[in-house]
Amino acid sequence: MTTTETIAPHGGTLVDLRLKGTEAERAVEEAGRLPRVAIGRRELSDLEMMAVGALSPLTGFMGEKDYRTVIDEMHLSNGLVWAIPVTLSVGEAEARELEGTSRAVLVAEDGPVALIDIDSIYRRDREAEAASVFRTTDLAHPGVKALHEAGDHVVAGEVSLLRLPEHRTFRQYRLTPAETRAAFADRGWRTVVGFQTRNPVHRAHEYLQKCAMEIVDGLLLHPLVGATKDDDVPADVRMRCYEILFEHYYPRDRAMMSVFPAAMRYAGPKEAIWHAICRKNYGCTHFIVGRDHAGVGTYYGTYDAQRIFDDVDLDELGITPLFFEHSFFCKRCDAMASPKTCPHGDEDRVVLSGTKVREMLRAGKRPPKEFSRPEVAEILIEAMAERTR
Ligand code: ADX
Ligand code: MG
Repeated sequence: MTTTETIAPHGGTLVDLRLKGTEAERAVEEAGRLPRVAIGRRELSDLEMMAVGALSPLTGFMGEKDYRTVIDEMHLSNGLVWAIPVTLSVGEAEARELEGTSRAVLVAEDGPVALIDIDSIYRRDREAEAASVFRTTDLAHPGVKALHEAGDHVVAGEVSLLRLPEHRTFRQYRLTPAETRAAFADRGWRTVVGFQTRNPVHRAHEYLQKCAMEIVDGLLLHPLVGATKDDDVPADVRMRCYEILFEHYYPRDRAMMSVFPAAMRYAGPKEAIWHAICRKNYGCTHFIVGRDHAGVGTYYGTYDAQRIFDDVDLDELGITPLFFEHSFFCKRCDAMASPKTCPHGDEDRVVLSGTKVREMLRAGKRPPKEFSRPEVAEILIEAMAERTR
């Protein structure tokens, strides 16, 4: 740790797998002669995160030993807490072709991105993985579905990055963990709360963030911009919502935004742990976990993603989770509140389901200002209209 850092990365060292200078040039040349392995969108986002240290201490796609201990014990084989396997999938035929290969090049849609030193190739235990990570094997669960669409075999080994994936969107917000850490240090923030979201920020989200901001130096709004399910609000629309909120309602010297390149798993509790570890790598000291964090449908209990933190050693985890109960605007309190602070009943509380809100927006109707800031509602209404036009 340098003097400006307030929290060590997971495992102690911020991983950097990007090849530089002549090493990179030589690797690019070598890549032309190596067997090719195609890498899809989700795994590419894992690769990107791994390369810049967001998944520290991981330096490659997981071998079977780690895969098993992560699934069975929520720890890496070296004993460090870790919640979700990070794997590179191939099909049966590809696995056979790669047998005996020690080095391959990972190729994205727009060309080679990394080299992998193949350690082993093993068969995925889909049922065990789904049951452990998603707590269900139901194919209707978007995470389980993605798992089933991925190849049967897993290629394990250390990776070296030729180049970062090229992004045409949100460029100024694509900060690496080293860059967010530097930004916190620049601002003199010693404690920083990270906020994960895959939704527009509504009043409840804002309330959680601002409650947390009362006790830490700064906020990192860290929206996930990797793959999400089709009916989630697209990242570009969400980004416009976050920007306008920041402009009108957040103090510039206390809040910053950058994007989290991860794909959404919808793994609820396990993903909450995983999200927290990643944000620790980005330099956050605190992490918000509210109601049904990273949940989908009715697969998880409202506070399961908080309860799972009882199963990990918080000293070992390093980052401090901040738990929040279901928040809402209460008309009697005339304020944002939660069951911990508001004595009134449901009839006084402005609570809208996601489905109800979407319905309103589609009809061009603004949800009440107690639910959504009008500036945010306007952007969402416009985006809905564009999509149906
Ligand atoms: S997700 O990644 O957890 O799916 P989402 O945008 O739905 O993203 O929620 C972001 C964070 O806010 C999560 O920690 C979630 O638990 C919390 N949250 C969302 N809505 C509420 C609410 N009304 N009350 C309390 N916490 C909430
Ligand atoms: Mg949610």
